[in-house]
Amino acid sequence: MSENHVYPVSAELAEKSLLTNEQYLADYAASINDPEAFWGEKGKILDWIKPYTKVKNCSYDPGHISINWFEDGELNVSANCIDRHLASKGDQVAILWEGDSPDQDQSITYNELHKRVCQFSNALKAQDVQKGDVVCLYMPMTPEAAVAMLACTRIGAVHSIVFGGFSPEAIAGRIIDSKSKIVITADEGRRGGRPVPLKANVDEALEKEGTDCVEKVIVFKNTGGDVAWHEQRDLDWETITAPQSEQCEPTAMNAEDPLFILYTSGSTGTPKGVLHTTGGYLVYATMTFKYVFDYQEGDIYWCTADVGWITGHSYLVYGPLANGATTLLFEGVPTYPTTARMSEVVDKHNVTLLYTAPTAIRALMAKGDDAIKGTSRESLRILGSVGEPINPEAWEWYYDKIGNKSCPIVDTWWQTETGGILITPLPGATDLKPGSATRPFFGVQPALVDNEGVILEGAIEGNLVMLDSWPGQMRTLFNNHDRFEQTYFSTFKGMYTTGDGARRDEDGYYWITGRVDDVLNVSGHRMGTAEIESALVSHPKIAEAAVVGVPHEIKGQGIYAYVTLNSGEFSSPELYAEVKQWVRKEIGPIATPDILHWAEGLPKTRSGKIMRRILRKIATGESDQLGDTSTLADPSVVDQLIKENAEL
Ligand code: PRX
Repeated sequence: MSENHVYPVSAELAEKSLLTNEQYLADYAASINDPEAFWGEKGKILDWIKPYTKVKNCSYDPGHISINWFEDGELNVSANCIDRHLASKGDQVAILWEGDSPDQDQSITYNELHKRVCQFSNALKAQDVQKGDVVCLYMPMTPEAAVAMLACTRIGAVHSIVFGGFSPEAIAGRIIDSKSKIVITADEGRRGGRPVPLKANVDEALEKEGTDCVEKVIVFKNTGGDVAWHEQRDLDWETITAPQSEQCEPTAMNAEDPLFILYTSGSTGTPKGVLHTTGGYLVYATMTFKYVFDYQEGDIYWCTADVGWITGHSYLVYGPLANGATTLLFEGVPTYPTTARMSEVVDKHNVTLLYTAPTAIRALMAKGDDAIKGTSRESLRILGSVGEPINPEAWEWYYDKIGNKSCPIVDTWWQTETGGILITPLPGATDLKPGSATRPFFGVQPALVDNEGVILEGAIEGNLVMLDSWPGQMRTLFNNHDRFEQTYFSTFKGMYTTGDGARRDEDGYYWITGRVDDVLNVSGHRMGTAEIESALVSHPKIAEAAVVGVPHEIKGQGIYAYVTLNSGEFSSPELYAEVKQWVRKEIGPIATPDILHWAEGLPKTRSGKIMRRILRKIATGESDQLGDTSTLADPSVVDQLIKENAEL
């Protein structure tokens, strides 16, 4: 589809949306010309216990990176997400839960949520969880995940959520780095009709060295499955929560007090603990939710992301609840028990706003009309996409089939680090082009720079950077401010480096082209090649490994791993399966390599650096475009790899 294919905003849509194009342009200009005045006003979208008098205090100066928003204000996140709605909508559903099995659901009103969160907050307090303590959550997609998050925020504890698909190894790494005092988990999760052994994984994680910072494990009995019990350490959620008072005064938090840590992959090293703070994050999540999804009273909003990812934080829990919306939390997968499950859930709950990932859309598209069979999806008003570039074919299918050619698609570009959406269409304001994330949100100043950091003008492609801060920006990497500066502010001085490349067209629209570093995006899950390589080389038979991304029809990117065995070891179908299983166990199923390439040697420069550029070309079958190979220490390695690739 050509980029000239434009879907203009209809007059009718502009009329009923919160913002028109004229309003967007005027407000955007105001937000850039005077961020203090703009955000000073917009910060009032929240209830403050102590109003702020300062709005923005940020420096991108090398050596002095510091980001502060609303820094003398005080507020509480759970009070903003729950208490302030009680008077006007206490009986409105806050969380609509749809189980893995279609016959299981729950509606939790704001009143009920308040009660549950207060009781669980008191239960945490009874375990001596204090303001600033880190609490690790390894939860299934049940309402208790949101209750636990909100309870942490109510008492000022800092949550660190680990995605339920990660391995014991990965849980342990995050517990150790964040020094978590408590772990909250469930006996099991359920996905696609199968149990997920959450408690067993936590038990295994806590056997690893360095995890003795954990004092207690709180276990929610979800499936009732059989789990091991450590009398001294494990606590039953229900037993410690039921006797607690239904009132718990929210703790006043400074705007810059830590709210949560969320680990994400970088191009090197172990996952990084992205730290978000209280005031700016919530202002930004609340504002973006409202305008990007054009939230209006009565909407039923469904974000399919897991709470373990940033989308699950900002747009499943905090953004929607701070706006007093009804947010649907789905335990299952889009194609279970039927291919049309996603559409069935939309019809069952009259979902008006749907936010999902291109990988899910492509998986459904591959099933054709079965994905919408027997459903009308008439309630839908707006569709959203997040996590990876959406190819125009998938965009068109989403628009035509799921949205009945009547719902605008907001293709939202952002990152764990950005806290909220930075580049996105706004439903009543932005003409759409399939495949483009279009224009910046208020206060966001994207730019494209060349590899020397020179700002490029006009219609051009380059490295995507941000020239100034926005309230939802991460503040630091937990306990590692140096790495924060190094990762995000050293490549191009005075600007935030996103790690993504983008193109800007004649209309000023941004088209994200993907990562420019060694980070992969597999089914919208972000993974560092270095992490997978380190899992591979920890296998006793593997000497060396190099991982690259290759295009994958459903997953966006697939994982292609070059593996060199120790001398004396030989490849075999059994070892192939064993190595894949090994990575699964080390990191989690999402990191399982799609292709293993047994390589006798890897292409290196004379100084011993692996030439990934060449490996990428060989993996994608473009060995006729290897580029400059003059720095190769041993060119015959490349010929051998090309030969092996052809035989795969
Ligand atoms: O490469 C971009 C891609 O996902 C990366 C961020 O991943 P993560 O921190 O896990 O957050 C995902 C959810 C916000 C980005 O650097 N990405 C995210 N959204 C888009 C995207 N690429 C293209 N288009 C998008 N809409």
